[in-house]
Amino acid sequence: MIRNELEKLIAEKRACVGVAGLGYVGLPLIIEFCLKGFRGIGFEVDSKKADQINAGKSHIVDVPDENVRKCVEEGRLEATTDFSRLSECDVIIICVPTPLRKTKDPDMSFILAAGEQIRKYKRKGQLVILESTTYPGTTDEVLKPILEDGGFKLDEDFLLAFSPERVDPGNPQFQTHNIPKVVGGVSKDSTDVAAQLYGTIVNDVHAVSSARVAEACKLWENTFRAINIGMANEMARLCNALGIDTWEVVRAAATKPFGFMPFYPGPGIGGHCIPLDPHYLSWKARQHGFDSQFISLAEQINSGMPEYVVKLTSTALNKSKKALNGSKILVLGVAYKKDIDDMRESPALSIIDLLRAKGAEVVYHDPFVPEVTFDHAYTIGDAEPLKNNELTDELLRDCDCTIICTEHSNIDYKKVCDLAPLIVDTRNALNEDIRNGSSAKIVRL
Ligand SMILES: NC(=O)c1ccc[n+]([C@@H]2O[C@H](COP(=O)([O-])OP(=O)(O)OC[C@H]3O[C@@H](n4cnc5c(N)ncnc54)[C@H](O)[C@@H]3O)[C@@H](O)[C@H]2O)c1
Repeated sequence: MIRNELEKLIAEKRACVGVAGLGYVGLPLIIEFCLKGFRGIGFEVDSKKADQINAGKSHIVDVPDENVRKCVEEGRLEATTDFSRLSECDVIIICVPTPLRKTKDPDMSFILAAGEQIRKYKRKGQLVILESTTYPGTTDEVLKPILEDGGFKLDEDFLLAFSPERVDPGNPQFQTHNIPKVVGGVSKDSTDVAAQLYGTIVNDVHAVSSARVAEACKLWENTFRAINIGMANEMARLCNALGIDTWEVVRAAATKPFGFMPFYPGPGIGGHCIPLDPHYLSWKARQHGFDSQFISLAEQINSGMPEYVVKLTSTALNKSKKALNGSKILVLGVAYKKDIDDMRESPALSIIDLLRAKGAEVVYHDPFVPEVTFDHAYTIGDAEPLKNNELTDELLRDCDCTIICTEHSNIDYKKVCDLAPLIVDTRNALNEDIRNGSSAKIVRL
């Protein structure tokens, strides 16, 4: 039985683990398997990434070069663009992007492309696991028919499961091994074998009854975040209207030891997950005649935050008898969250775009991001790319306003407070100690 063969290969660490897509999710995952003694083959469409990995270098902040080097040198890790080698793998884990189309519908092209490669080179006896975040039903409705091609039968010729990825880039406390892993197969054998596999690298595996449950679980988690951040953003605007300090209110509410979990406002939501994933759920719900109102409302509030930040900036400049048009604005921190370099869906991009559309001259400083590029298709202002500026005293003095969009740890906020004439702080980066004694005008979210 295919189940018994795979169980034996996994237990003896003789299973070859293939990972398709070596990005934020795929690279840490394959490294974890290789460090645990499995042989791993990484499949990439980007030959530069594959070459870099084979040279022992990591392109992901949370994966140290030394781990990649160790796995490559010990002959356990290889990256390739040759998908025919998928046939060497006993397990194939798909970690390709799942973006949205311009219409905000799921873009399944990456999953379909990976599926097509697997279809071409599959052999009997493989376990295929999808980790890319997607709508409930994808594993069953999209991947299963692809794997059944050529008369292959589930449980007899292949196993198939979904296991959502929960990696939190830049979080030193929670890494692959100590984040519980949810696993749901399209058959009982698929669930069991996939759970056994992940049990070799993760402390806690939670098996569910189907791939659909596992798919829905991931979207529930991220929709929960999107909605709660949306609420925090609404509360920030509400507190602002009432003249109450938002951050003091959240800090106070967070002292409640039960029934409250703090979420914080900000300039908008970013990254590859929170702004996108709820759309996967609402799109699928719409197909079943269900309109998910919470998701739409949170989306509306969160995507309106960059405009609100620009309004705060314009009002603050106005109080100093300055117009946004012609002002020089420093955006401090452009990555979508602190201490990482990821620019995907970063609200800083919208803020810069809106500022430039209103005639402001925009410069930025971000220790993690050397250059910012704009998508012409979406840009309403000047789409010219920007280069990182050093955070000099002159720059801070010279800019009419500094907007703190991302609160990276390695920025001297005391210096920012001492030298910048006007600051819009969207992240509460400037605590009371830093603010005390500062002559800067400070506007907080
Ligand atoms: N980044 C996160 O924090 C995070 C967390 C949880 C879940 N996810 C989900 O995981 C999936 C992957 O996200 P990511 O952040 O790792 O994306 P990423 O863009 O960092 O990496 C994806 C990689 O896949 C490669 N690729 C594209 N098409 C391919 C193909 N057909 N075959 C092989 N490789 C291919 C790309 O070149 C890229 O290197 C997405 O569905 C995402 O929603 C991401």
